[in-house]
Amino acid sequence: MPNSSPIAYDEFISYLDKFFCISIDDIKTVISEFHAEMRKGLSGNESSLKMIPSFVDRPRGSEKGKFIALDLGGTNFRVLAVELDGKGNTRISAVSKFLIKKQDMMGTGEQLFDFIVHCIHTFFIDNKIDTKKTYDLAFTFSFPVEQTSIAAGKLISWTKGFTASGVEGEDVIILLNEALKKKNIQCIRVAALANDTVGTLVARSYRDSTCDLGVIMGTGTNACYQEKLSNIKKMGCPDTKGHMIINMEWGNFDKLRRTYYDRRLDAGSVNPGKMYLEKMVSGMYLGELTRLIAYDMIKRDLLFNNEPSAMEGFSKKDSLKTEHMSLIAGDETKNLEITRDFLTENGVNKNMLYDRQALKQLCELVSSRAAAIGAAAIAGVITWKDPDLKIKHTVGIDGTLFEKYPGFDQKIDTVFEKLYGKKAVNIELVLAKDGSGKGAAIIAAIAAQVEKKTNDCP
Ligand code: GLC
Repeated sequence: MPNSSPIAYDEFISYLDKFFCISIDDIKTVISEFHAEMRKGLSGNESSLKMIPSFVDRPRGSEKGKFIALDLGGTNFRVLAVELDGKGNTRISAVSKFLIKKQDMMGTGEQLFDFIVHCIHTFFIDNKIDTKKTYDLAFTFSFPVEQTSIAAGKLISWTKGFTASGVEGEDVIILLNEALKKKNIQCIRVAALANDTVGTLVARSYRDSTCDLGVIMGTGTNACYQEKLSNIKKMGCPDTKGHMIINMEWGNFDKLRRTYYDRRLDAGSVNPGKMYLEKMVSGMYLGELTRLIAYDMIKRDLLFNNEPSAMEGFSKKDSLKTEHMSLIAGDETKNLEITRDFLTENGVNKNMLYDRQALKQLCELVSSRAAAIGAAAIAGVITWKDPDLKIKHTVGIDGTLFEKYPGFDQKIDTVFEKLYGKKAVNIELVLAKDGSGKGAAIIAAIAAQVEKKTNDCP
């Protein structure tokens, strides 16, 4: 609420409800705006949806071999060894996980890539990998990258809090190869570059041919889908048969009604003016959005009854995380004891049941809007491909928000039911764990088969 004049609790909540609630008519409007932006993006016109060709199609299921995969894009960096048996089965035979420190995310690009290579080296040692052999490596780099081939692409702009200097506009595979060379790691051939959504779709469709959409709802949010080559007008090969996966970068979709709190959150972010949908939907931001509302209520004396420790605690940026919201949302105890303990452990000494109920209600409001927007985006892609929902569509989804937030999947399903009634059964959401690692390996296998590294039409 922009002005701070006194307001009663009920009136404030009904304002919030009005601004955060998304009706089915709103969702239908979002879907048609989504289609318009998709069309523009595919044609190469100015659009908030970048619609980036991935230079890879869905796999056949027969890809085989052992690959190394790198997964960079959230709070952790992972190095994996993945084995494909050529019959649709994938096995992670080794994995090491490293926490990415703020200084590596926000320092220089050289520092970040040196960190990546240092982790690869540690992974080899920890997992006793034979470095006399050569391995094909796939790099899942979960940021908007303008790809020019299956193993080349320039970072358009950082998202999700990363700001490492000297990387935007550069080919990330060249940067990786330079860092590998510096550390004298010779047993690796960088074979493929992929977005995490593409990895997720590829990993799921390796064993399930009905999967045609890959979605991430985690720290960030995004999706990819299989498109007809003839529809990707900006590639200029209209007569070509065949398909390619398109990384939509839907987190940047900007045709959504934003509230005062969304604008505040955006202004305080490292990338203001960008990634509006991501800032309303994904795990990196939902906690902060909820905190901004709660803090406003505290200042208006509508929450925690003038308790100084609450005022102080909620004044700190990013002090409420989406995982805390998950905890509060899942608190089914009679007096919300889990929420009470969480608050007291975090220094909010005095909190009454009605404060905890109000906080839970805020989490519900913010997460329900996130799920509704996420559902609108999924429905937008599916109806782009199949307007009457004639066939079954499996949506492979990965990400902690989808996996861990209580009831998030049901909230999305409810929107589908309201939109499409019985036909909603044709949209099935499945958790596709580890897609970005397994999928990257499959993409490396495809790359090894194709060995086609130009931006020509396939
Ligand atoms: C951000 C990135 C995108 C990625 C998504 C999920 O939106 O820009 O590339 O797929 O996060 O990790």
